[in-house]
Amino acid sequence: MNSKITAIGVYAPSKRVTNEYFEKIIETNNEWIISRTGIKERRFAEPDEYTSDLCINAVKNLLAEHPEINLDGVDFILVGTTTADQIMPSMASQVQNAFNIPNTGCLDIMAACAGFVYGIVLAKGMIAAGTHKKILVFGAETLSKFTDFTDRTSCILFGDGAGVALIEASDQLKIFKPVTGSDGSHGKDLYLSQHASVVNGEQIIPNGKIHQNGKVVFKWAVQTMSQKVRELLAINNLEAGQLDWIVLHSANLRIIEAVASDLNYPMDKMLTSIECFGNTSSASIPLSWDLASKAGKIKPGNKLLLLGFGGGLTYAGIIVEA
Ligand code: UT7
Repeated sequence: MNSKITAIGVYAPSKRVTNEYFEKIIETNNEWIISRTGIKERRFAEPDEYTSDLCINAVKNLLAEHPEINLDGVDFILVGTTTADQIMPSMASQVQNAFNIPNTGCLDIMAACAGFVYGIVLAKGMIAAGTHKKILVFGAETLSKFTDFTDRTSCILFGDGAGVALIEASDQLKIFKPVTGSDGSHGKDLYLSQHASVVNGEQIIPNGKIHQNGKVVFKWAVQTMSQKVRELLAINNLEAGQLDWIVLHSANLRIIEAVASDLNYPMDKMLTSIECFGNTSSASIPLSWDLASKAGKIKPGNKLLLLGFGGGLTYAGIIVEA
């Protein structure tokens, strides 16, 4: 059985945080942030607004924008997140409860910024296995609650948001073969720990904040992601020219520009959300999709290559037809 993405819904908290905010708390400036990252502003959740709330609002927006869709028959919920409200219950179970969806499997996916694409990969596999037919896949984060606001190299990057895709069984091939992978030797270059622990043989700081070795992750992303785009195209017998859009995780605009340049792919066909939402980790790909969709760019039948990467370091990519 094949599968398709029936609809996308997103939600971002209403609180806008411009670069000027950071000029007051760390040594930085608007020009540096824009030129080194592409970010103009991001959204922060309120103190009493959590990742599960963002997921629930993304579903409400999906239903409001697609009156023909309902949640009847949803048989699995997958939530990619690194910033769950708590370790348990899962965010997926919180969504199940909010919408009172009966008899649905619930699972959170810990794959950092690649979590949304991993969710699509898993949903495709479950539908192909014939065990499930209608799956909600989320990428959702409240990174601002886990940001070290004294670290000027990372705090300017992160923002909060959520996206959800409804994935359903289909008689047409609309979700193609994926690539997935990881390089755990870089675990210590991007981590978030609540407990005293050791990663790659090194003691890491257990303060519940995101620690990133930005230069190393940047270099790894630029070197690895264009290669992964080529692999995805090759296993699906496609050429880059047959793609309508590439949606790379919005980690840093310079990474997206470097990958486009390496692939000789036009930058105006790279969809991004970094400018107005910052780096929202697993939420960035659905946010980019939604922005482009509302701008009238994505048409039915368009082919999009989605590629997420981040903490692990891990990545997942897949080509889908809108
Ligand atoms: O989403 C998961 C995956 N994450 C990523 O892919 C993130 C990848 N990394 C990055 O996006 C970038 O490495 C950063 C945005 C984190 C940093 O940008 P960079 O161009 O790699 O900066 P850098 O670390 O090479 O620093 C260049 C200079 C340094 O000054 P010196 O040593 O040259 O005098 C930094 O101290 O910029 C300085 N700097 C800043 N200056 C103003 C670092 N952060 C700031 C800041 N404002 N916020």
